[in-house]
Amino acid sequence: MNVKDLFIDYFVSKGHKQIPSAPIVPENDPSVLFNTAGMQPLVPYLMGEPHPYGKRLCDYQKCVRLTDLEEVGDTTHHTFFEMLGNWSLGDYFKKESIEYSFEFLTKVLNIPLEKLAVTVYKGDDKIPRDEVSANAWKSLGIKEEKIAYLGKEDNFWIPGDSGPCGGDTEIFYFRGDNVPEKFDPEDDRWVEIWNNVFMEFYQDENGNVTELPRKNVDTGMGVERITAVLEGVNDNYQSSIWQDVINKIEAIANLPYKGNEKSMRIIADHLRTAVFIAADPAGIKPSNTDQGYILRRLIRRAIRHAKKLNIDINSNWDTEIALIIIAKYENYYHEIKDNKEVILEVLQKEKTKFNHTLEKGLKEFSKVIARQNNEQIPAEIAFRLYDTYGFPIEMTVELAQEHNIMVDVAGFKQKFKEHQEKSRTAAAGKFKGGLSGNSEIETKYHTATHLLNAALKEVVGKDVHQKGSNITPERMRFDFSCDHKLTEEEKKATENLVNKWIEEGLDVTHEEMTKDNALASGAECMFIDKYPDIVTVYSIGNVSKELCGGPHVKNTKELGHFRIKKEEASSAGVRRIKAVLE
Ligand code: ALA
Repeated sequence: MNVKDLFIDYFVSKGHKQIPSAPIVPENDPSVLFNTAGMQPLVPYLMGEPHPYGKRLCDYQKCVRLTDLEEVGDTTHHTFFEMLGNWSLGDYFKKESIEYSFEFLTKVLNIPLEKLAVTVYKGDDKIPRDEVSANAWKSLGIKEEKIAYLGKEDNFWIPGDSGPCGGDTEIFYFRGDNVPEKFDPEDDRWVEIWNNVFMEFYQDENGNVTELPRKNVDTGMGVERITAVLEGVNDNYQSSIWQDVINKIEAIANLPYKGNEKSMRIIADHLRTAVFIAADPAGIKPSNTDQGYILRRLIRRAIRHAKKLNIDINSNWDTEIALIIIAKYENYYHEIKDNKEVILEVLQKEKTKFNHTLEKGLKEFSKVIARQNNEQIPAEIAFRLYDTYGFPIEMTVELAQEHNIMVDVAGFKQKFKEHQEKSRTAAAGKFKGGLSGNSEIETKYHTATHLLNAALKEVVGKDVHQKGSNITPERMRFDFSCDHKLTEEEKKATENLVNKWIEEGLDVTHEEMTKDNALASGAECMFIDKYPDIVTVYSIGNVSKELCGGPHVKNTKELGHFRIKKEEASSAGVRRIKAVLE
């Protein structure tokens, strides 16, 4: 049995409810492009909202982390991974959480006790050393020598710069036979396999820390790593997760893995991530901004490495590999099954686009290298490779690195800014992670989004449906299906209706119900398959009813004045409104 199934079965047997993986592209969180941890979609519940499934949850969550993108090609890094997690929302705490982890590792996965070691938070001037966790470990048979007490850098977990957070205890596994008597967390034969975070605090953007209304447990265990550990392989790509994908690449390239590891790992990793992004309900397509740019970069980097392996890049090499990936995951994520055609089309279209110019671009690049005499590649050339030949700047940098040459990236970014209305540099700032704070203003915009959705239905027509939304502390953005540019009258009427509802001081309420009842009651929702069987429905007076995780203001009076700043096309059949609360 697969570790995902074992994990879910175990925690369900301990009274946890399995929740579906949220989409990789978070809604209403403009500070990150992708979910980077299992807890990310659960932030409102960790902050105190009741979860419709109760207080004990578990899942496997699709995650994409981009900070390590350049590292992919070695034995351990991936851009996509699955995170196993179990949560207690104000139910059990440290002792029980540790007991569950221990039992799962030693009784279900049969890991010998001797191979385990743990780190525990040593405390700081405000928080005492975590004796509760240390004692829990000792009572389970973990010896004192196998416990390391570490500080905030190692044993305190926070998502990015702000969010629900707390001290943690991390579990390590010894790769090898002769387990040392004493645990040394610096010795890299010990690999971290599981992190149990005890979330007691909330830290805001300014570093102010407050106590959460209740104490939660948030755990995370990477599927790729635990699988490699259990199978005793040091190269993650040699585990059963990757074996058939790598075999396929070997067959297509007619080359062995040995000696070609780097390109083969990059192709395997990047195509898997591309499959998951393309299958996401957000409908991301390769483009030059945000998630679309990442998708483009991943596909193009995979293509370049396929070319390095002398694969005929005009053949179906990429879709053949994608089909293996799809077969592997379609029973776990139905969106992969449902969107099979979409995934293959995204890959094919992007390949056709890029193959057109790749050859010429590479020729141009060789000429540049020959001319450059080891001098830095100037911004104009990097920009031409981008603009004319479709080379993402990161690809130019990677190519240049292979010749030990630098690229004027800062100059490129300047040029890019001058040429593009939407600066990709701004998007790059988002890669670093960190959650939006669900700040007061963002909460207001969230409620205003529901009002705008309802007002458009009334003014423009019942066929208006939300296609996307994005909120920053400065403004809200709302995409909706509509076949025409809004007239001045429609815009004014929409704005007036939202303001009328705000002035009426409508109460915002929420209730839990089954998904079927919610839909039968006429509640609006964007991606029905994303929601669990029991859902939360937010109502605003009797003007709006939507499936939503919150958070929202209590009364529309809190919103102030609503103003539409811009109405424009977003894509075919989709319009976009930017609006502010003043
Ligand atoms: N949220 C914790 C992590 O990502 C469990 O490590």
